[in-house]
Amino acid sequence: MKIPPEKLDEISSANDIVEVISDYIPVKKRGKSFLALCPFHPDKNPSLHISQEKQVYHCFSCKAGGNVFSFVQNFEKIGFIDAATKLAERAGIRLTFSGNKLDTSNEISVLLEINKAAAVYFSKMLREVRGNEREFVHSYLKQRKIDEKAIEEFGIGYSLNRWDAMLNHFHESGDFSPEEIEKAGLIIKKENEKQGFYDRFRGRLMFPIHNESGKVVGFGGRKLLEEDQGGKYINSPETRIYSKSRILYGLNHAKEHIRYAESAILVEGYMDLITMFRHGIRNVVASSGTALTEEQVKLLSRYAGKVYVLFDADSAGISAAKRGTEIMLQGGLDLDVVTLPPGEDPDSFLGKRGAEDFHKQLKSGMSFVSFIADIYLKEGKLSSVEGKTEFIREVISYIAVIPDKIKRSLFLKEIADKYSLMESDLRDEMEKILRKRKQFPETSVVIPDVPAGKKRDSVEYEVSVNERELLRVFLRGDPEAVAYIENNLETAFIGNSRILKIVEHLLDDCVNHETIELSRILQGFNEDDECVGMIMDAVSDRHEASYFEYSTFDSLLENEIGPVYDIDHARDVIRSLKLEKVNKEIESLKGDPENLNKVFQLIKEASALRKGA
Ligand code: CTP
Ligand code: MN
Repeated sequence: MKIPPEKLDEISSANDIVEVISDYIPVKKRGKSFLALCPFHPDKNPSLHISQEKQVYHCFSCKAGGNVFSFVQNFEKIGFIDAATKLAERAGIRLTFSGNKLDTSNEISVLLEINKAAAVYFSKMLREVRGNEREFVHSYLKQRKIDEKAIEEFGIGYSLNRWDAMLNHFHESGDFSPEEIEKAGLIIKKENEKQGFYDRFRGRLMFPIHNESGKVVGFGGRKLLEEDQGGKYINSPETRIYSKSRILYGLNHAKEHIRYAESAILVEGYMDLITMFRHGIRNVVASSGTALTEEQVKLLSRYAGKVYVLFDADSAGISAAKRGTEIMLQGGLDLDVVTLPPGEDPDSFLGKRGAEDFHKQLKSGMSFVSFIADIYLKEGKLSSVEGKTEFIREVISYIAVIPDKIKRSLFLKEIADKYSLMESDLRDEMEKILRKRKQFPETSVVIPDVPAGKKRDSVEYEVSVNERELLRVFLRGDPEAVAYIENNLETAFIGNSRILKIVEHLLDDCVNHETIELSRILQGFNEDDECVGMIMDAVSDRHEASYFEYSTFDSLLENEIGPVYDIDHARDVIRSLKLEKVNKEIESLKGDPENLNKVFQLIKEASALRKGA
């Protein structure tokens, strides 16, 4: 079962945290705060503080903390859904979906509403298109074997082959202004005229793109007409709700299947995914033809630890597979590379050979080591000492990015055994690569530097002051500051993986909600105590704690530190994070005369940043 976010909001607002906790244990009122003996550790003096205003609890001794859901979860030792169901029952809320009326309370909601309305419109057009156009479109569907079920499941639609169909439709409904619809990327401003717009998608088969929570955030449109001058696919432009690098097509349909299968199959195209679903293979997501990004890998790794990567065996496919491999390994995913015969993609392969052969193909997937070995073998390189050396070096450079030490060792052992080499030699080689990476990090590989003298595992970095400040200002939720962060923060500025996780979650949350609500944010981390701890620390302002030694938890939360915490603060923090990153880059590059130009440029950039540019 899945409870929609609006429902969760309803449940939490109907269950006052003080009342709920009082159901379980005695709670005393102390000033504005409420106190109780903490049930999560042996407690002599009440150290559990409950804030009615923020609807959170926090134990100053054992650091347990969270919202009403996590309290019930931890107290009853039950899962999130069970806790939510219990709380729904307690408040007499029925867990069914509720009606739909337009939410235009903020820019994000408007974008979501427009995309939703457009999806409804496109699928209506697919059903209602008439005449020759209908025959043309429906024969295409037939030819591509897109059946009713797929149309229904994926919300596939059609954009009429006209310049103003969408425009007129929205004009008639009158719900949104042309400027708003343009912002959503569905219409385009005419270039030469003072006013006027035209439809972006014309005469195309429309695939709605959903975010993880199933809301339509954009579209991919497949060209159908020969004379269409546009690309084979046209996609929605980047908007505040749609960013190509952060979306995996089909994830909302596939995520439960991925969880169940404990693995995901990664393909490139919309049609690949849809055809695979039709053949009953549902743990699939599509990268939509772009090179896989770190964000996509993070998204995926929330659902499965193992990925089957499907690629064309042509050279473009291979280099894409290699790049994708590196990012996935770096993201801690296990992977098998599955190649298809040259020129085939999953859609065409399934069409010709069927599901059984496809499963065989999946089973024949190789570890990335064998995949790379295979390439060398085919190039006839594995027979010479030089070729073999080059191969080993390349493979080790991949192994070096795996965050898990034990996995790295296992891979080294595998290669040592397979190619009769000394494990220690391989390890030396890997250490060499790791050292070099630290010295000259590629910009694409995010392995932030650590302060000298503090040797730590390559995955985790201490939270920097700037990162902590970022979290604080973000969580305070000032709309202007949040918008600034959304638009200016690059996740590459962040080194600590937990901060990154929280910040990414906050960024995602902003897409669906107008305001930052602590209690809802905590809901997103109900299985990650460390993150909950960090969030609670950030909001409870522990770094000012000595100052407010005698304060209650409430007054800590409420403590206004004036204008420091607004948009200026956000600007400062992001500038400092950027500066931090640039300085690290300078440090790592400056030893080598070859980098002179780059270093010079970076120094200029740093000085501009310092001046506040
Ligand atoms: N793509 C895109 N823009 C293009 C071409 C491709 O966004 N001009 C993306 C689409 O998401 C597409 C994926 O890259 O699904 C893979 O591209 P390709 O293999 O060329 O297309 P197919 O998915 O095979 O589409 P079809 O089977 O309809 O030809
Ligand atoms: Mn195809």
